[in-house]
Amino acid sequence: MFTKITEATVTIEAPTEEKISSKLPVFYNPAMKLNRDISILLLKAIDDQDMQICDLMAGTGIRSIRFLAELEKKIKSITINDYDEQATELIRKNIKANKSALDPAAEINITNKDASTLLLESTGFDYIDVDPFGTPNPFLDAAARRLSREGILAVTATDTSALAGTFPKACQRKYWAVPNRGPLKHEIGIRILIRKVQLIAAQYSKALTPIFSYSKEHYMRVFFRCKKGKSPVDKILKKQGMMHSAGPMWLGALWDPNITEKIFQLSADLNYDTNLRLLSTIRDESKIAAAGFHDIHNISKRYKLIAPAFTPVMQKIEEAGHSVARTHFSDHGIRSTISEEELVDIIMKIRRECHTPT
Ligand SMILES: C[S@@+](CC[C@H](N)C(=O)[O-])C[C@H]1O[C@@H](n2cnc3c(N)ncnc32)[C@H](O)[C@@H]1O
Repeated sequence: MFTKITEATVTIEAPTEEKISSKLPVFYNPAMKLNRDISILLLKAIDDQDMQICDLMAGTGIRSIRFLAELEKKIKSITINDYDEQATELIRKNIKANKSALDPAAEINITNKDASTLLLESTGFDYIDVDPFGTPNPFLDAAARRLSREGILAVTATDTSALAGTFPKACQRKYWAVPNRGPLKHEIGIRILIRKVQLIAAQYSKALTPIFSYSKEHYMRVFFRCKKGKSPVDKILKKQGMMHSAGPMWLGALWDPNITEKIFQLSADLNYDTNLRLLSTIRDESKIAAAGFHDIHNISKRYKLIAPAFTPVMQKIEEAGHSVARTHFSDHGIRSTISEEELVDIIMKIRRECHTPT
């Protein structure tokens, strides 16, 4: 059964199935609308124009159709690929149905190839979107090789059970790192993913710096900016290491704060029903120069304290001269430059003040 589905300004046809699964030949996943929204916001937020884009594993084609309908002067050409024949047929049909709304200046190529073969046979792309069901591992080598010198690589991983430590051996096999099952599991997982992608690109003297990263429900997503050269790669490798006995992982910034601010502003201006709260939390935490965060509930439990409200804790952290923000990785987390010892002192002080008779 095919149904008409409208997402943002475009309407496509897609098979309807109750349960999304990698076993379905082609499917539309409404849970990934945010993933597509953020890709568009990021492409709008950067200055790059006339890009050669590759939607490596396009499914119904909804991502590319939205790129072509919503991005102005950004696309010189777009390659929309899927190795599934039914998918490419559907992509053709969906492109045709939306033709009048798509950027007329953009060259559109629909291809039906294995992702790595397509990349290796190409001359390269300025933006490569790797959006698989599961791990991005099989596609990283070819994507790193064919990413242009200053290109953008977007990577989705849905195998969060490995990255966030449910299956630590799988994480070691697939990502060459030890995960963590504690409160920081998602941030540590995304940092492990980032390091793996960076190592693959490092072989080709390509330094990949994350410019926007987030973790949401069943997936993690990272956008990297490439810089070609041995010395940028050496700098990247120096910023990898251990945290909380997990890793090795990327310990540098997860976001470019300027791009993150623009993404938030654009989302508000465009009136996307994108999760604005998520984007504003990420915008705030992108300004804090700290890897990892403090889980207030976990710290309170370990020090046998009653967990305080966030507002007074954050106020007191700022009064002590540290920057602070909430984190999108956890409802109990605070990202700050403050040390755990200082934070515990603050929590104790708040408790004492609560119990001091006035
Ligand atoms: C998660 S879906 C993509 C969803 C799509 N990007 C979107 O935003 O709706 C993954 C797609 O990858 C395709 N795929 C899986 N392995 C592939 C490969 N080796 N080469 C090309 N396409 C592949 C599948 O056929 C499937 O359509």
